Amino acid sequence: MKDRLLEIRDLTVSLKKKNSSIPIVKGIDMIIKRGEIAGLVGESGCGKSMTARSLMRIQPPSAIVDGSILWYEADGTSTDLTKLKEKELRKMCGPQIGMVFQEPMTSLNPMIRIGDQVAEALLIHKMAGSRREARDKVIRILKEVGIRDPELRYRSYPHELSGGMRQRVVIAMAMICEPKLLIADEPTTALDVTTEAQILKLIRQMCTTRNMSALVITHNMGVVSQLCDRVYVMYTGRILERAPVGEIFSKPLHPYTKGLLSSIPRIGSNPEYLTTIPGSIPETDQKTSGCEFCLRCSEDERRCFFEMPEETGYAEEHYVRCFAAQHRMEAENE
Ligand SMILES: Nc1ncnc2c1ncn2[C@@H]1O[C@H](COP(=O)(O)OP(=O)(O)OP(=O)(O)O)[C@@H](O)[C@H]1O
Ligand SMILES: [Mg+2]
Repeated sequence: MKDRLLEIRDLTVSLKKKNSSIPIVKGIDMIIKRGEIAGLVGESGCGKSMTARSLMRIQPPSAIVDGSILWYEADGTSTDLTKLKEKELRKMCGPQIGMVFQEPMTSLNPMIRIGDQVAEALLIHKMAGSRREARDKVIRILKEVGIRDPELRYRSYPHELSGGMRQRVVIAMAMICEPKLLIADEPTTALDVTTEAQILKLIRQMCTTRNMSALVITHNMGVVSQLCDRVYVMYTGRILERAPVGEIFSKPLHPYTKGLLSSIPRIGSNPEYLTTIPGSIPETDQKTSGCEFCLRCSEDERRCFFEMPEETGYAEEHYVRCFAAQHRMEAENE
C-alpha cells in the first residue's frame, strides 16, 4: 500500500436532468502509484475530463458523484477525498494536487501579469513568507519549465506569450506548490510536435526529480507511449482495458485499444491509409445493457449486445473488459 498515492474505487458520476440522470463515468477503478505517470486515454466525450474534475470536486453542479477516492499518506494511512469538507479539500488543491486544465487560456487571467498569477497559489496557501520570497520562487519555477528570461517574463501578460509558453505558465501554476500529484488534462493538444515533446519531457523530468505522480489525460496514444508508465483506456465512461504501458503496446487485448493504436500515424506510412475506428462514440443518453463498443467492434459476438463483460485479468496488472479478449486468453491458456 505504501507505494500508492491515489486509489479510485468504483467512481461513478451522473448528471441530473429533470427526472432522470445521465451516467457519464461508470464505476471506474484506478490506482496511481508514487512517482508514476498514469495515462487516461480515450476519444472525445468519453468522460476523461469529468473523471479528473470529480477528483478535485470541480464537476458541474448537476453532477452526482459516488464511490471513493482514497488519498494515501507515506505511512499507508488514507483519506477519502469524497468525504472531506469543501474547505479541507481546497487546502489540498495546490500543495497536494495541482491541475492543468484542458484549455490553458481559460486558466489565465488576461488582465494580470503571469508572474503574479503563478505566485497567487503560494500566497493563498501561505507557502511564501513575503512577496519577495514568492517572486523568487516564481522566477525559479518559470525557469524550470523552460521560460527564458523569467525575470522579464514575470511582468508579461498572457497575450504577450506564445501558446507553448502559456502552456508552460499553466504547468508552472500547477507545480508552484510542489504537489504530490499533477493532473494534466490534454496538456499538449494545441501545440506543435516539437513543443509537445518538450512539455512531455518537462512533465517526466518533474516527476523524476520530485518523485511526483501524474495523471495525464489525452486522446493521443503517441503521448501515452512517450510519457506514461501505466494506461487506462476509457470508452463511454468505462475503463475497458488497463495495463502497464509496455503491455498495452505489445499486447493490446481490447478491440478498442487496438483501434486507438492503429490510428497513430507512423513515419513512412501512407497518410491516405491511416486507419480509424469506424463509427463514433454513442450519445451519453443512449442506453444499452451490453458493451457500449459493440456497434463499432470488429470482434463482436451476439452476447456483447445485451451483456456487459466483467473485467478479467490477463497478466499482472493487465485487465480487460471484453468477451472476445477473454476467449482469446482462454484459448492461449489451453
Ligand atoms: N457541464 C456539462 N453538462 C452536460 N454534459 C456535460 C458537461 N460536461 C461534460 N458533459 C458530457 O459528459 C461527457 C463527457 O465529457 P468530458 O468532458 O469528460 O469528455 P472528455 O473525454 O474529456 O472529452 P474531450 O477529449 O473532448 O475533452 C460528454 O458527453 C459531455 O457532453
Ligand atoms: Mg476533456
